[in-house]
Amino acid sequence: MRIRIVGIGMGAHQITPEAADALRTVDYVVAAEKQQGDPLLAIRREIAAELGVPLVAVPDPPRDREPDGDGGYAAAVAGWHAARTAAYEAVLAERQGTAAFLVWGDPAFYDSTIRIVEAIAERGVVEVDYDVVPGISALQLLAARHRIVLHDLGQPLHVTTGRLLADAVADGQANIAVMLNRSVELDGLDEWTIWWGGNLGRPEEELVAGRVGDVLPEIETARERIRAAAGWVLDIFVVRKPVVP
Ligand SMILES: C[S@@+](CC[C@H](N)C(=O)[O-])C[C@H]1O[C@@H](n2cnc3c(N)ncnc32)[C@H](O)[C@@H]1O
Repeated sequence: MRIRIVGIGMGAHQITPEAADALRTVDYVVAAEKQQGDPLLAIRREIAAELGVPLVAVPDPPRDREPDGDGGYAAAVAGWHAARTAAYEAVLAERQGTAAFLVWGDPAFYDSTIRIVEAIAERGVVEVDYDVVPGISALQLLAARHRIVLHDLGQPLHVTTGRLLADAVADGQANIAVMLNRSVELDGLDEWTIWWGGNLGRPEEELVAGRVGDVLPEIETARERIRAAAGWVLDIFVVRKPVVP
């Protein structure tokens, strides 16, 4: 059978023609249902319905959100991925044909669909061939909305998670993109510049930019407004160290 891993950007309006063409070739979409009324599942349903493809919702296995330390985090994620792999495999084995996974943003950034499909292929219970179609990532959208290049001329960009931001700063990274934030913690970075975006590409989208020490309260308020409007918040930001002349 065939699996198509398709990046969907931030929703139906960001599906590229290449992604739409790929989705027209599939028999069904497989999607995780994270909770009752999962908002990202609703967006996937909308996309599948527009393309006339049935969607099979797979209840997402529970995940330990408060593991101890880095080892605990890795073990919690590994256990969750194994359970997800088994759940998807059962659907694929039963339905066969060509399936699509609709990946939020782009499959290359902080998304495990490719790893899970690789694991399914390795297990060999279902024989699968798969490809990946790119989508517009939150990182690209952040840059576009703020009308910025993500790094200074010829300089690097370090991409990490909120959990690992302090380590990146301690390691001397000076231009850092941060995803997977449970909150925005920027202790000691008051003089840095931040470009922040919440629920980018959605109707409740908010942007804030400026000196961290000045705009942090504005970001907190924007996060609260988004949560009140949509019921969920996904945010991303770039922080850049000031250049000392
Ligand atoms: C599981 S990762 C998936 C990233 C996705 N594959 C991409 O390419 O954007 C989810 C994280 O991406 C960022 N993100 C995703 N959608 C976003 C949005 N609409 N606005 C702001 N950040 C978003 C947030 O940092 C969020 O915690």
